[in-house]
Amino acid sequence: MIVAIDGPAGAGKSTIAKKVAATLGFLYIDTGAMYRALALKVLDLNIDPLDEQKIIALARASDISLTPEPDGGLAVFLDGNNVSRQIREPRVTRIVSDVAKIREVRQVMVELQRKLGARADCVLDGRDIGTVVFPQAEKKFYLDAGFDERVRRRFLELRAMGQAVTSEEVAADLANRDNIDSTRKVAPLKRAEDALHLDTTRMSIDEVTAAVLHNIREK
Ligand code: DC
Repeated sequence: MIVAIDGPAGAGKSTIAKKVAATLGFLYIDTGAMYRALALKVLDLNIDPLDEQKIIALARASDISLTPEPDGGLAVFLDGNNVSRQIREPRVTRIVSDVAKIREVRQVMVELQRKLGARADCVLDGRDIGTVVFPQAEKKFYLDAGFDERVRRRFLELRAMGQAVTSEEVAADLANRDNIDSTRKVAPLKRAEDALHLDTTRMSIDEVTAAVLHNIREK
């Protein structure tokens, strides 16, 4: 079974996807982590984030893989190195949407995601899972939350990782990524018509998890 969870940054997708996958014994696939790994490589090789041709070649030549961890998390490997921490750095977050809007980059990532999905029951979170990657997914969810609440959640999450960000910086980043992710030409963020829409602004993590699990278990 494929469970697709889409929505904007900070809506709680990865937290919920992880919990739902752990409860059901499904594989959790964080598709944003794949775009982040490529963005990290772009930075490490000093490639201009707007040089599409170089980034396309890089995407085709890179080995990006995800490995489940015992705690239900996911380790992200780039060319054999564990980059799980680096891909969350602000410098990566700043350019990842520009990398992810390139059509040929998306083709590489979507192919990888489909291969993973063909191997096991999965919960995937991203922006285009229910619309493009797995339009035939058995269960689709679109998680959203008010802008201020998404900023608050992302701020707390980054602080917990030890990053010295301000809430103004987080707000600017979210507004910028919302804009690029939802207006790009290829696979923009939008709700699949058959996705269950959950506004999580006033819901706890447990409430959202329960709502998603309830819907999956329903016939
Ligand atoms: O979910 P995230 O914040 O880690 O995602 C990082 C970026 O990757 C996000 O700004 C848009 C892009 N992305 C995408 O275009 N398609 C996906 N399926 C997942 C993420």
